Amino acid sequence: MEGKLSAVAKSLKPSPIQELSLLAQRCNAINLAEGFPDFPAPLRIKHAAIQAINSDFNQYAHVQGICDHVANKMKHIHGLDVDPATDIVICCGQTEAFAATMFAIINPGDEVILFDPSFETYDTCITMAGGVPVYVSLEPPCWTLDADKLMKSFTSRTKAIVLNSPHNPTGKVFTQDELEIIAGACRTWDSLAVTDEVYEHIIYDNEKHISLAKLPGMQRRTIITSSLSKTFSVTGWRIGWAIAPSCIASAIRNIHVKLTDSAPAPFQEAALTALTSSPEYFETLKNDYLKKRDFIVELLESVGFDFKFKPKGSFFLFVKLPDSCTLSDVEFVEKLIKQAGVVAVPGRGFFHQVAEKSQTAVCYQDRYIRFAYCKSNATLNAAAQKIKRLFNKGFSADC
Ligand SMILES: Cc1ncc(COP(=O)(O)O)c(C=O)c1O
Repeated sequence: MEGKLSAVAKSLKPSPIQELSLLAQRCNAINLAEGFPDFPAPLRIKHAAIQAINSDFNQYAHVQGICDHVANKMKHIHGLDVDPATDIVICCGQTEAFAATMFAIINPGDEVILFDPSFETYDTCITMAGGVPVYVSLEPPCWTLDADKLMKSFTSRTKAIVLNSPHNPTGKVFTQDELEIIAGACRTWDSLAVTDEVYEHIIYDNEKHISLAKLPGMQRRTIITSSLSKTFSVTGWRIGWAIAPSCIASAIRNIHVKLTDSAPAPFQEAALTALTSSPEYFETLKNDYLKKRDFIVELLESVGFDFKFKPKGSFFLFVKLPDSCTLSDVEFVEKLIKQAGVVAVPGRGFFHQVAEKSQTAVCYQDRYIRFAYCKSNATLNAAAQKIKRLFNKGFSADC
């Protein structure tokens, strides 16, 4: 039967992360792996969704009010003029917005620049659309952008660059200088930019989210993708959007309609309530996540991890194993699951370039662990106790 599969299907391999997920389920491990909250979504938006279902908003739908709110927000927060009638497409989460964007802009052989490490789904979407991912590594420990490396990665075949800030997995927020370098390269090479801004409201230490589209000459060449998922703790609702110049938005809309017809109607209705949340809602979200970040950084420091870089946004920590630990990321996570009953993600799945092997055999791309702290305080406390107990038992010596 395998012979019947398409080349695309055959090229998609299960990652070590999937195998570890199964092990974690068997061991009933506390989940610090996956990027979804385990605490309740805001009551008022849940009520809005229930009311929408009870009012029979249950058929295919396009809720134009979402576009109006998103356009207002772009004006209010970023000073960008976006036409809600033509420039916004409601999709099934950022994931579909991104995939539809790739199908809208990529011709076979077009190159798309990605930073390394990066969120896993981008390269698959690019490849499925016939494009070729080109990687530019961010330099550890602070995941800085090397302007020369970036410039060298652009060619006449470059169709777009993908920018995710705040960044999964590292928690990096790209600086204004870095954004200017990216914008300059896009202008020089007449390239598009596709941004993933799902963590725009989860940002710390007085950092400010700047949309790349705001930089001179960039709005006309930028497709912004985002969603309700992370900001409102509703990753299962599947409501997101793409914002683009009208001709590109129209192509994304056509593809979205062919792929899924429309995003879930009752949740689109409830999005109207979410998008009118008070400024206090966003402030509380940020402050709550800041406390969780500090809690988990402190915990990991207390058992021997060294934070050369503290995340400035998103709800992930991407941290190198202590030097005393000679295990690879996968071996470490396997032990964490079996011996502590906690699961995190081995970092290697986020790196795409061929690893540079060091003499000690384990390359730096195999030494990072991603912890997700989008969890209730009860979950984080329980995980902390288990992790401490494990390290007190001599886990580090065991490494
Ligand atoms: C960087 C990034 N983009 C997009 C998504 C998925 O967003 P959505 O639920 O809107 O599809 C995730 C989920 O983990 C993410 O980390």
